[in-house]
Amino acid sequence: MKKQPIGIFDSGVGGLSVLLEINAFLPNEDVIYLADSKNCPYGPKSDEQIIKLSIRNCEFLIANSCKAIVVACNTATAAAIEVLRSKFNIPIIGMEPAIKPAALNTNTGKIGILATKGTFNGKLYKDTSEKYANNIDKVVQIGDGLVELVENNMHNSEEARQLIFKYISPMINNNVDQIVLGCTHYPFFKSLILDILPEHIKLIDPSLAIAVRLKSVLKKAGILSVKPQGKLIFYSSGEINTLQILVKEYFQKVESIQKITLDTN
Ligand code: DGL
Repeated sequence: MKKQPIGIFDSGVGGLSVLLEINAFLPNEDVIYLADSKNCPYGPKSDEQIIKLSIRNCEFLIANSCKAIVVACNTATAAAIEVLRSKFNIPIIGMEPAIKPAALNTNTGKIGILATKGTFNGKLYKDTSEKYANNIDKVVQIGDGLVELVENNMHNSEEARQLIFKYISPMINNNVDQIVLGCTHYPFFKSLILDILPEHIKLIDPSLAIAVRLKSVLKKAGILSVKPQGKLIFYSSGEINTLQILVKEYFQKVESIQKITLDTN
């Protein structure tokens, strides 16, 4: 089991931001990454649809021998994590909106959160907010259009710059000092965001915390890989161009990048 790959899925290429941290932190692990680009974005979909797609994504990864799965999508985590954990008998790690560290570190008592509609509507966001940030002012923003820009490799475009300015400025003007990136596609806008962010405002991306959590789960289960160097395999259910471009830009030890057809496509 130690030699089996870790499975990671997202609605598209956003989860590559999580894979980057996982690959850096656990370089011995083989990873299979599934981008469900055909059905991207998940954000506006119903919970029922997202659960169906997430089950199918897990079935694909498990059929490909994955020993654990990372749901590298806040939206899918929000809608489906409990169903996935009850249905499948391997460790399943989800994304958590990084509200806790933001709430703990704020000096102004105000935090900004950028996420999808699906994530804001989910129980996980509500529970985490109530538990850790009840007395904190939250400036929330749905990142409409951002996921699509990343999927089309346009995250450094003028259109992206304008949209980021529109979404982040109200947070800055409202005196937040922590901004949570609540969608795995959003780290691709990091440089555009940092361009307009005053130095005292911290940007929080939970990906590294997920990699740390994954390592501890694998270690506890006794299934950490002991290989010298892991390899990466990528699949997309839809458009493959952006996946190819980003994988080439960010990853080494890439075994293959393939387009596949999944059952409910
Ligand atoms: N990367 C997904 C997330 O973290 C994108 C959501 C979507 O497909 O709308 O929420």
